Amino acid sequence: MLDGKRILLIVGGGIAAYKCLELIRRLRERGASVTPVMTRAAEEFVTPLSLSALAGEAVHRDLFDLTKEAEMGHIQLSRVADLVVVAPATADLMAKMAAGLANDLASTLLMATDTPVMIVPAMNVRMWEHPATQRNLKVLHGDGITVVGPDSGDMACGEFGPGRMSDPMTILAAIEGALSEGPLKGRRIVITSGPTHEPIDPVRYIANRSSGAQGTAIAAALRDLGAEVVFVSGPADVARPTGVEVVNVETAREMRDAVLSALPADAGVFAAAVADWRVARESDKKIKKKAGALPVLEFAENPDILAEVSQMATGRPRLVVGFAAETDDVITNATAKRDRKGCDWIVANDVSPSTGIMGGLENAVVVISDTGAEEWPRMSKADVAKRLAQRIAQALTGR
Ligand code: CTP
Repeated sequence: MLDGKRILLIVGGGIAAYKCLELIRRLRERGASVTPVMTRAAEEFVTPLSLSALAGEAVHRDLFDLTKEAEMGHIQLSRVADLVVVAPATADLMAKMAAGLANDLASTLLMATDTPVMIVPAMNVRMWEHPATQRNLKVLHGDGITVVGPDSGDMACGEFGPGRMSDPMTILAAIEGALSEGPLKGRRIVITSGPTHEPIDPVRYIANRSSGAQGTAIAAALRDLGAEVVFVSGPADVARPTGVEVVNVETAREMRDAVLSALPADAGVFAAAVADWRVARESDKKIKKKAGALPVLEFAENPDILAEVSQMATGRPRLVVGFAAETDDVITNATAKRDRKGCDWIVANDVSPSTGIMGGLENAVVVISDTGAEEWPRMSKADVAKRLAQRIAQALTGR
């Protein structure tokens, strides 16, 4: 139920705007109040009258509406809500949000608000897949904004693919999730994420292609369920999640030390792509090129953080989740990895370049536990994170 919760609903200009009418009804049925805001473009798709009639409140449309400014200024309007929902979030609105523009009422409210923001993207598939939108999406994820959908399927424009706005019931579930007290309230969870850098000399290092996207999304999803998250990250591409404790590290050994000092915790999620080896003797001076003499690097094994935490005799987190990045025989290799490391679950994925998973926005995982292997369909890394966070909540709380 959403009794007494206040939603500021910003309706963008897209054909999917009509779905907001249904969304408003469902929100009000559950006891929420809805304050609608429309962009100019939204008025081409739904009328202010239908929104205000269903919401039972006036619709806000203009930044410089002096009557409304006198009643409730736009800054105040942006802050009275428990949650700001942008649906449909058009490519234009997402770009404005990512760039921090504030040139109309909707974008100004989004800049001025101090309450959590959820966006529900909807646009043509090409626009969704455009590098600019994907870039903006990454920025918005990094800013701690919750993204719901988009779904794949036939679109109003006649094309097929991702870009369809999620249906009202899915949005409703996401809103309920975002506003709930959170099943993980009071639980502490340590997450490793990103690659590690293993120095060769002061200017060179060994690294891998992990972007940190999946670990970051998991941190955000666990935070959204109320967990106290310690996020131990190597030098990742994506911005660190907000609302969590961030510990920045560079090498596997630093990551291990940071994890051990973050314990005790209720759960550990080891999503980092930790380098298995480091250079045995790091040179403290830049290695110079000498004619005819190629440098030879000798390696030393790095500590296996997942195995060490899984096998702790005392103080082991109740739930230890590892990841397995494989390029072949995913289930067989990951099952063996789970046994070898001693963790409770392994989230395995195929990171062959042809899958586009490493460094991409989507993931297709198999979750291996003592009950066997469960294949999840390919979905966004954010959705994998949400599903995994739900599972973790169930395992820790029985809810
Ligand atoms: N891991 C870790 N410390 C390491 C190496 C890996 O904590 N030194 C963790 C990763 O975070 C991941 C899991 O172990 O959760 C599996 O990582 P992966 O690289 O797939 O496995 P490896 O043990 O390195 O096995 P291999 O490279 O032989 O597949």
